Amino acid sequence: MMYLILLICAGFIARASAACSRAMLQEAAASYLRTQNAGLSVQAFAALANNVTYVENDVPMDINKGVLAQAVVVDFNRSLLDTTECATFTEITSATSKHPYVIHTRMLFAPDQKITTIQSVVADAGDWAFNATGHLYWTQKETWTPIPHSARDTRAVIKAAGDAYLDSWGDSKVKVPYGTPCARLEGGAYTGGSKPMANTCTMGAFPEPLKIGRRRYVIDEELGAVDIFNDFPFIDTTRPEGVPSTNLFRVEGGGIRYIHENTVCVARNCGR
Ligand SMILES: *[C@@H]1O[C@H](CO)[C@@H](O)[C@H](O)[C@H]1NC(C)=O
Ligand SMILES: *[C@@H]1O[C@H](CO)[C@@H](O)[C@H](O)[C@H]1NC(C)=O
Ligand SMILES: *[C@@H]1O[C@H](CO)[C@@H](O)[C@H](O)[C@H]1NC(C)=O
Repeated sequence: MMYLILLICAGFIARASAACSRAMLQEAAASYLRTQNAGLSVQAFAALANNVTYVENDVPMDINKGVLAQAVVVDFNRSLLDTTECATFTEITSATSKHPYVIHTRMLFAPDQKITTIQSVVADAGDWAFNATGHLYWTQKETWTPIPHSARDTRAVIKAAGDAYLDSWGDSKVKVPYGTPCARLEGGAYTGGSKPMANTCTMGAFPEPLKIGRRRYVIDEELGAVDIFNDFPFIDTTRPEGVPSTNLFRVEGGGIRYIHENTVCVARNCGR
């Protein structure tokens, strides 16, 4: 019996120390943001990483040569902290930079809490529905306050809501748990603008069923949020096999309230 208890305790401690605290993830996300707005050098930031893999729009590159090495004005940001998977997600809206961007970044951490992977979907002029001014305007109007403890959805419920939305692109019979109101921000275009109290997230059917693959998740139960990095086929007429995309969801009581899509095009505005 004692042996069993010890085993269980050992397992619990191992798991507890493998997970990351919100404070540690918050600090890492803050350092990332400070680096992007040039408050911290990329060299100093890289010191927080362990042999980091840095990828922008699915292309691995030198962290010193990417957008992170540019000074980008962070007009607005949101971060998800995933204490179970030791990961963060950050959305940066930069409308007032000389070069405006919307950036979605996912960071993964090793058990020693150093960053191992940074993946960003970096959207700018010519990407899907891109308009950083519109993005800033609408994202600032939204409410993403922490969900009270007693009202929090489980990871499984939050993840299932995001998955159902993407699955519905391939199968119109999939029931997506939309809340009311629900609004989608695609680039700078907002579905909820003229009907702020309605569910305007429902998707019309695509001309062909789409399979959304290579899904990578960051989930934050406190914020009721999940971001799903994925490959978006079809949208870019010049790259039908898929372009880098991410969908950020806010879920309340099992229902989707907000969706932010950030999609990079190869052809200008995805050839449409
Ligand atoms: C990110 O947003 C938080 C508020 O949520 C703010 O306190 C912080 O200054 C922002 N970071 C940057 C670099 O703008
Ligand atoms: C760094 O990571 C790469 C790819 O993940 C791996 O091939 C390489 O061996 C690593 N180098 C060190 C010094 O750990
Ligand atoms: C971008 O969005 C802003 C705010 O909604 C709007 O005033 C502006 O006309 C848009 N720009 C373009 C090029 O559509």
